[in-house]
Amino acid sequence: MTKLTCTIVGGTGYAGGELLRILSFHPHIEVTQITSRTRMGEFAHTVHPNLRQTPGGSLQFIRPDDVQKSDVLFLCLPHGEASTQIDRWAGLADTVVDLSADFRLRNVNAYERWYGHPHPASHWVERFVYGLPELTREQLRGAQYASGVGCNATATNLALMPLVKAGLLDMTRPIISDVKVGSSEAGSEATDASHHPERSGAVRSYAPAGHRHAAEVEQMIGMLKGPSTTDAQAPDVHMTATSIEMVRGVLATVHCFVSQSIQEKTLWKAFRDCYRTEPFVRIVKSSTGIYRAPEPKILSGSNYADVGFALSDDGRKVTLLCAIDNLVKGAAGTAVQCLNVMRGFDERAGLEFPGLHP
Ligand SMILES: NC(=O)c1ccc[n+]([C@@H]2O[C@H](COP(=O)([O-])OP(=O)(O)OC[C@H]3O[C@@H](n4cnc5c(N)ncnc54)[C@H](OP(=O)(O)O)[C@@H]3O)[C@@H](O)[C@H]2O)c1
Repeated sequence: MTKLTCTIVGGTGYAGGELLRILSFHPHIEVTQITSRTRMGEFAHTVHPNLRQTPGGSLQFIRPDDVQKSDVLFLCLPHGEASTQIDRWAGLADTVVDLSADFRLRNVNAYERWYGHPHPASHWVERFVYGLPELTREQLRGAQYASGVGCNATATNLALMPLVKAGLLDMTRPIISDVKVGSSEAGSEATDASHHPERSGAVRSYAPAGHRHAAEVEQMIGMLKGPSTTDAQAPDVHMTATSIEMVRGVLATVHCFVSQSIQEKTLWKAFRDCYRTEPFVRIVKSSTGIYRAPEPKILSGSNYADVGFALSDDGRKVTLLCAIDNLVKGAAGTAVQCLNVMRGFDERAGLEFPGLHP
């Protein structure tokens, strides 16, 4: 079978590098173009040394302006860049997946509220499908355009979805997602905050309130429950983000209430009903061993999301957990999973590898 040709725009970045790694071993995709404004002509393995002597590693970076048509195009640009040239990018491929936050929110008013300015390409918003296959698989089938997903939103959404779907959540109480994140979430560009003496060993509360990924959690609840008609019915989602000593990984710890006292077996049923057939979500809840609960460390490099839960003695308060690799299930892996669904490939194609241990 002839492989589809593929372009990665923003190929020197961390998300672009992970896409190149994954797609180098994809049975139906061949990356033929990869862009950089700063490393033109250099081999990809000079930026991504793990890809030396792999098909992707031997590609040379080209200027974004020199991109030619291909079947598939991934945009791995900083927030705000994809939307400024979306007409051009869309003209260069039949299938486009944008990993940035530009097209994640379906509601342009929500975009303006969370990002502080009107959407620069609002007529494009409804053409994009929110790219979380566990939530929007049916819309992704045959779609031309998919957005990426926020990594903190992915972890929070996968933790919460079983309760939302089962109608267990008490929507009159706030939902609080405490996310702990690794340094690669901030991208490959060095800043004062990423300087090793400042970053290493840090427990830095960088977004104690108002993290933008909360918007994607509200959107997920709205998608599953239908739009709220009153403010009293709207989900009250509070996200707080802390940088910790990891390079990769997100652990979302989500605190919420259920509407009536339940037993643990109700939560087991909700999680099994939600994830029984999901190829990349695993329920992790053991009473013995070291890894009793989801742990990002062992997901490094993999597209799996591990989810778990705990219930308070009174049966009303639930702690939900989800661990992912921010660059894979939180970015490049889910983007490839979306592509597989959009193009009718086996959803697991190119993605069936576990993380690292120890
Ligand atoms: N890091 C994560 O954990 C994560 C998770 C989920 C989603 N995302 C999203 O994925 C996107 C990429 O993130 P990242 O972490 O990979 O960022 P990154 O490491 O900073 O990479 C950004 C890439 O974009 C290129 N670039 C920057 N400005 C450009 C412009 N104006 N035109 C063309 N190319 C430009 C850069 O290369 P040159 O400077 O060489 O051109 C680089 O290759 C972001 O929108 C981010 O929100 C990231």
